[in-house]
Amino acid sequence: MTELVVRVNGTEQKLDVDPEMPLLWALRDVIGLTGTKYGCGQALCGACVVHLNGEPVRACVTPVRRAAGGAVVTIEGLSPDGNHPLQRAWVELGVPQCGFCQAGQIMSAAALLAKKPRPTDAEIDESLAGNLCRCGTYTRIRAAVRKAAGNP
Ligand code: FES
Ligand code: FES
Repeated sequence: MTELVVRVNGTEQKLDVDPEMPLLWALRDVIGLTGTKYGCGQALCGACVVHLNGEPVRACVTPVRRAAGGAVVTIEGLSPDGNHPLQRAWVELGVPQCGFCQAGQIMSAAALLAKKPRPTDAEIDESLAGNLCRCGTYTRIRAAVRKAAGNP
């Protein structure tokens, strides 16, 4: 065990864990942030996407050592009050069905909008292609991303 320091949603966390532990385990089981979901554990579904130093990463295959000294943002920290434009658009358009994939979808979309505030449909589709939704909410996801970007 090694103590690793990671800033998570603006708060410094001291993690006394195996450095090879997946970041997802540290977030969910050690810190208690369960908004980020475990889908496949193999970087295939996108349910576990969080931001590490501003970039979207799949927390299920990211060893926690990679986050040491860095900053992680999870769905809980995307906005202080759940009022990020994407979260508002998601609610207004009633995007989720079961909801399981949605945190990952929103975090991938947030990373896109941070780089491209007015993405095209093709750019939205490309950025979210790795986020699977077994409920098939893709059309509403794209509409919500467009709405959040002020491009309805
Ligand atoms: S749980 Fe990480 S990509 Fe599926
Ligand atoms: S809303 Fe159910 S998997 Fe996407």
